[in-house]
Amino acid sequence: MSHNTPVHDVIFLGDPETSAARDAVGFGATVAVDESAIAPEDRHRVRLEVVDGRLQARLPGWPRSAGFRVELDCPTVAEARRSPVVRGAGTPPGVLLDATAGFGTDAVRLAAAGWRVIACERNPWIRWLLDEGLAAAREGAGDRDDLAEVAQRVRLVEIPEAREIMAAIAAGAIEPVDVVLLDPMYPAERRGKAALPPKSAQMLRALAGEDPQAAELVEPARRIARRRVIVKRPAWASPLAEDVAHSIATKLLRIDAYLPIRHP
Ligand SMILES: C[S@@+](CC[C@H](N)C(=O)[O-])C[C@H]1O[C@@H](n2cnc3c(N)ncnc32)[C@H](O)[C@@H]1O
Repeated sequence: MSHNTPVHDVIFLGDPETSAARDAVGFGATVAVDESAIAPEDRHRVRLEVVDGRLQARLPGWPRSAGFRVELDCPTVAEARRSPVVRGAGTPPGVLLDATAGFGTDAVRLAAAGWRVIACERNPWIRWLLDEGLAAAREGAGDRDDLAEVAQRVRLVEIPEAREIMAAIAAGAIEPVDVVLLDPMYPAERRGKAALPPKSAQMLRALAGEDPQAAELVEPARRIARRRVIVKRPAWASPLAEDVAHSIATKLLRIDAYLPIRHP
């Protein structure tokens, strides 16, 4: 695991002798055989467990039947092309680095639009959930035939940290990329008492927290992107860095595009 990785408290529920439990311990989780065996001081932790062969995550208080797993939806090409992130990326084909992949929604959207996506995610729990979601999609999960083919165009790389993958691309150890997408965690909610965000957003927030150093990713991204860097922001948030070349704004979000910094 690399530096700056915010690993939030996780407890793995299940048989400690399974390989999933051992992996979880390797990433820093504690293990309890079931909910009743969770020590009082651990009750605040996110629960991870394997249910019907798939890893799922639950916040304290969520019933077992309401666990979250990554179920990737495949938009049609036309639907994908309407989304702001795809419009912001420009015209495929090409290679796009999704440096902050999260649960892969944008990666799949971009792949559906025709990009080949290199996905990077530093949080081990989010990464594990995404890896399983991509694997299920490649094996034909969901009700769309094209999802398997689209998911093949998303490669979740071993290097978990965006800075490190950008350095590897700069050094020529990984193929060059045309576009870099940065979608760091949003700043803490500005709204007052609003309806609860969807389960996936609650889980992202619980596992990944915030990204106080996200602005530092823009410059190295601009040094490796051959065409542009796009940054997804909430509509109300200021740009992550100066020099925005252009933006696409919707009611809820904004895609800020930055031009490459050419080598001297
Ligand atoms: C808002 S989420 C991305 C959501 C994603 N676009 C989607 O469609 O699901 C941000 C993710 O970026 C990851 N992240 C933040 N900083 C990172 C970094 N420096 N390197 C790799 N991943 C990072 C966080 O762990 C989190 O999962």
